Amino acid sequence: MSQGKLHPKVAIVTGGGGGFGKGIAATFLQQGAKVIIADFVEDVGQKTASELGCEFVRADVTKKADWEALVKFADEKFGRLDVVVNNAGTTYRNKPTNEVTDEDFDKVFTVNVRSIYYSANVVVPYMQKKGLGGSFVTIASTAGIRPRPGLTWYNASKAAVINATKTMAVEFAGDKIRFNSVCPVVGLNTGLSDLFLGKPENQAKFMATVPLGRGCSPEDVGNACAFLSSEEAAFLTGIDMPVDGGRCV
Ligand SMILES: NC(=O)c1ccc[n+]([C@@H]2O[C@H](COP(=O)([O-])OP(=O)(O)OC[C@H]3O[C@@H](n4cnc5c(N)ncnc54)[C@H](O)[C@@H]3O)[C@@H](O)[C@H]2O)c1
Repeated sequence: MSQGKLHPKVAIVTGGGGGFGKGIAATFLQQGAKVIIADFVEDVGQKTASELGCEFVRADVTKKADWEALVKFADEKFGRLDVVVNNAGTTYRNKPTNEVTDEDFDKVFTVNVRSIYYSANVVVPYMQKKGLGGSFVTIASTAGIRPRPGLTWYNASKAAVINATKTMAVEFAGDKIRFNSVCPVVGLNTGLSDLFLGKPENQAKFMATVPLGRGCSPEDVGNACAFLSSEEAAFLTGIDMPVDGGRCV
């Protein structure tokens, strides 16, 4: 029997307690990876990890010390860390840009961008020291490549993530540490979907703009992340892969 395309890699999946993150963790486990779910909601993260049969570490991705604790956990438990999926993210509810508050702005840039900064600052030196290469996958959004009204600063945070991912892809290519973004279209009933759509009645109208006719599922995102983290994608770095049923065409 095949061991799966991610065997024997060790992966951290942030925000793995639910939504896309749970789908990513489940797919990675099916593909033979050892998975550490990192989420700041302890009961939900722990419950998901028990259900899936993987590790859980309570971590707030906006805190550098929590990233240091995550790397320590991976090293002590498994002796290696090959993949980081930066999935934890947030938004404010879709609204006119003139109504966005300082708190909204700080929230999206702290959770969506600062978290990537800390993940790289803490994990890249570890991977360089190990010398095994590695893969970072950042969950950006179609919002970062084809922005639409009402989410200006969320969109900008995801564009920042895509740009930082491409920059690090080039900078750390010599260490064989690959950096790629996955850009999902609006999800099917994940935690943030309702906030992106603004009002539930907008859902049907929005889905009609997706050529393949539906929203993005956690399995869609999980499959893209597993591919990008596997040896099948050994020559792929610096890409921003839409997982969007053709919406960005
Ligand atoms: N849902 C969508 O429609 C959609 C579309 C495109 C991109 N995305 C992106 O996909 C990612 C996941 O979205 P989702 O809808 O599955 O979200 P979700 O709200 O269902 O899940 C997010 C998870 O991240 C955790 N989290 C949030 N802030 C955290 C922090 N500071 N530290 C640790 N964990 C934290 C939450 O506890 C939760 O378990 C986000 O980055 C989002 O921007 C979502």
